[in-house]
Amino acid sequence: MTTKIAVLVSGRGSNLQSVIDNIESGYIRDAEIKVVISDVGDAYALERARKHGIPAVFTDPLSFENKPAFELEILKTLKEHNIDLILLAGYMRIVGKEIISAYPNRIINIHPALLPAFKGLHAQQQAFKYGVKVSGCTVHFVDEGMDTGPIIIQKCVPVLEDDTADTLAARILEQEHKIFPEAVKLFAEGKLKVEGRIVVHT
Ligand code: GRF
Repeated sequence: MTTKIAVLVSGRGSNLQSVIDNIESGYIRDAEIKVVISDVGDAYALERARKHGIPAVFTDPLSFENKPAFELEILKTLKEHNIDLILLAGYMRIVGKEIISAYPNRIINIHPALLPAFKGLHAQQQAFKYGVKVSGCTVHFVDEGMDTGPIIIQKCVPVLEDDTADTLAARILEQEHKIFPEAVKLFAEGKLKVEGRIVVHT
């Protein structure tokens, strides 16, 4: 059965692109991106979706009274496309109850640090400023906390002596583009089983 994917974005969409490319190349089989939804009207990610013939939807948070109303609108779009899996690919909002309870263990996020360290915004800069010697990225299921859900894959990168926060972020991003599609592939193949906090690769 084809896994029907929705990707939520807010910005440049390079992780979205990595999933599109890995579906097109056949690395990820039996999966299709049905819709890309952005909370930012001019997000380049929307442009990337359109270039590949994927429906691209801007849902403006400012046109809703509150967060639940905004999320209900997103849920409507997800239902219209019969979505099985939601990917957060640089989506800059905390997903609320409305969406999480409708998609338990079916929302996956990519975070640019080795969780549980450096949650939240600007994780690469946080890690760099802290002076860590290794950092990396984490793909995880989304629960109601911020960057707290069960971990699917992590990848380490070294912090080098002449690094800046930007060079470190670029090294991490390269790995994001590998482990994010890898997690999608595993999900689509039915190979991820969540047992409490532990994700077992079957
Ligand atoms: C990535 O660093 C991702 O880990 C974080 O937001 C950034 C999004 O980049 N959640 P892009 O929009 O996928 O290029």
